[in-house]
Amino acid sequence: MIDTDATQCGFCTPGFVMALFVFHHGGEPADSATMHEALAGNLCRCTGYRSIVEACRRVAQGPADRFVAEAPVLAEKLSSVPPCTEYRCGTQTFLMPRSLEALFAAMEQHPNAILLGGGTDLGLRVSKDREALPAVIALEAVRELRHVTTGADAIEFGGAVTYSEILPHLDRHFPSFGAMVRRIGSRQIRNLGTIAGNLATASPIGDSIPCLLALDASVKLMSRAGERVLPVESFITGYRKTALAAGEVIAAVRIPFLAPGQKFSVYKLSKRFDQDISTVIAAFRLERLGGKVQQLRAAYGGMAARAMRAVALETAVKGRPWEPAWLPDIETLLARDFTPIGDHRGGAAYRLRAAAGLLRRFQFETSSNVPVRVEAL
Ligand code: FES
Repeated sequence: MIDTDATQCGFCTPGFVMALFVFHHGGEPADSATMHEALAGNLCRCTGYRSIVEACRRVAQGPADRFVAEAPVLAEKLSSVPPCTEYRCGTQTFLMPRSLEALFAAMEQHPNAILLGGGTDLGLRVSKDREALPAVIALEAVRELRHVTTGADAIEFGGAVTYSEILPHLDRHFPSFGAMVRRIGSRQIRNLGTIAGNLATASPIGDSIPCLLALDASVKLMSRAGERVLPVESFITGYRKTALAAGEVIAAVRIPFLAPGQKFSVYKLSKRFDQDISTVIAAFRLERLGGKVQQLRAAYGGMAARAMRAVALETAVKGRPWEPAWLPDIETLLARDFTPIGDHRGGAAYRLRAAAGLLRRFQFETSSNVPVRVEAL
């Protein structure tokens, strides 16, 4: 950073240095796209970025350092850690179990503990609301929650699998989902955040939820008593409410692959393109037969107290030709499904028009094979 004059006031420098450190140790190619993604999420008001990208290029070409040499020692040290690490600070307890068994034991010991996924929502309760959470159980080290299994007809991944870990699979099977996940947060956020955590917080603008609804995904919930499987649609029960019972954890999320001919796309509208909270997010899965709609699953976030499917719309378009003729009706149909609120991100009327516009975009893309995505242009 010094050699390339990549620091001026220095306000952003610690974040960039940490991003460069991770990039240096990630073994990734030093191409322009990868380097920009590695640096994304750090904003510099001074340098214009060129010098920072040059620093990134030099770091990538630099020699391995002592952290690489120490890696085996670290692995050895980690192998001897206890099944559940516990930290205490005053009346607060933080637990990090390493197995499902240790997790359930910790949950029994602290029945009111909050389960921690990525922590972007939970962190706010501490930083903004100054809450002193009595007990928090981190899920990231529970080995049974870290699997990714690709079957013949679906992909299943554990509740502690991060966005970064699932991203290559999403890119492969649901590229639009993968592109959207890149906009959720920078790499640092994606390295911590989980889809299961996004589900558990049940925010009306949780970005992955409309995708999971449109794709007919399900969750496997596990407790000492056993396991049960619920469609995501039944799992989200209201504003920040889920069907998760006491003693249960989201063990896995299962997404069925698209059948031949099915199309899936997700569209996210936010004030800033990258790393911003959605104003409206829409995900569609379409199945056609003879040019007509066999089934449309249309799920929206930002339109109601919870992310949900537009059932009136889905029912009305069934059997109709998949062409623009009926598109002027969309807003009326959506108004039957949703009565959105207006807030600082967008008014109610804007949300309805935007939601309709996103379906028009999907119709256009699936009919013409011409992408109208900002990220594709
Ligand atoms: Fe000033 Fe980056 S050097 S913000």
